[in-house]
Amino acid sequence: MSRRNGDREHGSPALIHSGQRPELPTRNGTTMTDATTAPRPTPHPWWTNAVVYQVYPRSFADSNGDGIGDIGGIRSKLDYLAELGIDVLWLSPMYPSPQHDNGYDISDYRDIDPVFGDLDEFDALLAEAHERGMRIMMDLVVNHTSDEHAWFRESRSSVDNPKRDWYWWRPARPDGDRPNDWTSAFSGPAWTRDETTGEYYLHLFATEQPDLNWENPEVREAVYDMMRWWLDRGVDGFRMDVINLIAKNLDAIDGADRGSGLGFGTGPQIHGFLQEMHREVFAAHPGSYVTVGEMPGVSTADAALFTDPLRRELDMVFQFEHVSFDHGSHKFDPLPFDLVALKEILGRWQTELAETGWNSLYLGNHDQPRLVSRFGNDTVYRVESATLWALVLHLMRGTPYVYQGDEIGMTNVTFATIDDYRDIESVNHYREQVEQFDASPAAVLAGVHARGRDNARTPMQWDSSAHAGFSTGDPWIAVNPNYPTVNTEEDRAAADSVFAFYRQLIALRHTDATVALGRFELLEPQHPQLFAYARTSEDGTDRLIVVANASDEPLTDPLPVPAGATLVLGNQPATGDDPTLRPWEARLYRVGSAL
Ligand code: GLC
Ligand code: CA
Repeated sequence: MSRRNGDREHGSPALIHSGQRPELPTRNGTTMTDATTAPRPTPHPWWTNAVVYQVYPRSFADSNGDGIGDIGGIRSKLDYLAELGIDVLWLSPMYPSPQHDNGYDISDYRDIDPVFGDLDEFDALLAEAHERGMRIMMDLVVNHTSDEHAWFRESRSSVDNPKRDWYWWRPARPDGDRPNDWTSAFSGPAWTRDETTGEYYLHLFATEQPDLNWENPEVREAVYDMMRWWLDRGVDGFRMDVINLIAKNLDAIDGADRGSGLGFGTGPQIHGFLQEMHREVFAAHPGSYVTVGEMPGVSTADAALFTDPLRRELDMVFQFEHVSFDHGSHKFDPLPFDLVALKEILGRWQTELAETGWNSLYLGNHDQPRLVSRFGNDTVYRVESATLWALVLHLMRGTPYVYQGDEIGMTNVTFATIDDYRDIESVNHYREQVEQFDASPAAVLAGVHARGRDNARTPMQWDSSAHAGFSTGDPWIAVNPNYPTVNTEEDRAAADSVFAFYRQLIALRHTDATVALGRFELLEPQHPQLFAYARTSEDGTDRLIVVANASDEPLTDPLPVPAGATLVLGNQPATGDDPTLRPWEARLYRVGSAL
């Protein structure tokens, strides 16, 4: 059932990304050619059997000993990434930035922050990635800029500055209060009064991250122009930061009810904005790109619209349902893990995007705790649960995303005090709770331990030398103390290597059409221990079955696997015909001639 060699290179349909682009060598040695003239053996774009790896540059590898990861570090690890088999590298932002939000506050969209390197080094990284058949996806952060961006400096300078309307400025309400009641994602109000003119500006994130006004066509053109500039440099696509928030709920901003409870994102203009972007940037520019929109709060119905190829908006979205169901009133209030609920959410996203649209598959990233700590058992069954979730995720339909360190089963950290944390979200939350609401410091810290973003941002653990081989200097954030045992060197030498298991999963996605495209069906949805599903090829003749025991207990119930099925892959040594699944055991079976 393996696909013909050329499928993934030539599959990009003209209606998604048309135009000419120089040939790019790809991982299996063939070349990617112009989508409009190339033969198109299937209607499936190349990224339908690609795997993306996310690099968080600050924490990946430091080449000059200043304690901060950089481009030199990424370049030194390209062979490692090529060995893993990934197709696309998504780089979290490396643009010039005051770094209030680790680069998600950009002060210049057309340069590289000196802490990471410069444009020449970036070009070298791009060329070296392309030589290895890997594409590069940039992080596009255009819901907001840094308050140090030249656009905002101008905008704030006077009420009649030509760039005044590039951001959201409003006078105080007649009673002297803020324009509306929206709160920032990083605690406190979403409006800050600026001394220069006495008006308020909107920031859905930090005070230092003012929101751009996408209603203004000059803003949109400036962003599109910048995107074309990066495409000219040779980048292969964009991961678009909180892109559904660019379309504000205008009634709420200026409405009489002050916007409370109405939410602020995914205004109806969003589809028009994304279609215009597609037209002005991707359709107008030669190439075969991939786009993924980060979209907190969107439903499956929204996502099916955003990713319908005929609508020319986005290739896929990051949805948030499966990373938002396991907490109480706020994200730092964790609830016990509920497997049935997780299966329902992931299963629904699979089936509701089956006919139209495409899923992004992820269980962690730089904003989430480590997947093995959140969904698995990061002590007794660390390796088993890390590989179980890898198998469960990578066998679904969609494009899998591997977050740096997940491929060796890196875990959460429990730093002793808030002073050890760097993330603005966690630090602001702690201060607000402890200083304003008198919460118990230990309780707030426990929430940060469980859900804080720094869990994913501690330095990549390369080996057991000082600072985990991440840097020769003091890292900007402490290394996870488990680095002597959890690191790439140890893992890759182990018989039960997590890295080796990821390699197998990634290779399967490249070669197995049922893995890439098969229909999904959730099995035993109510079972509290078993995550099971089937994938069936488009013609119905091939069927894969995943069975995974997501618990610390053995599972002896009959498995939904027909007699005669063959074991393709398992995360624990094979046990012949024994149907018992050991704790955190996951298996993949194949049933030939399924129907
Ligand atoms: C996205 C990013 C996150 C950042 C926020 C504001 O959610 O992934 O890291 O803090 O947007 O840019
Ligand atoms: Ca450095």
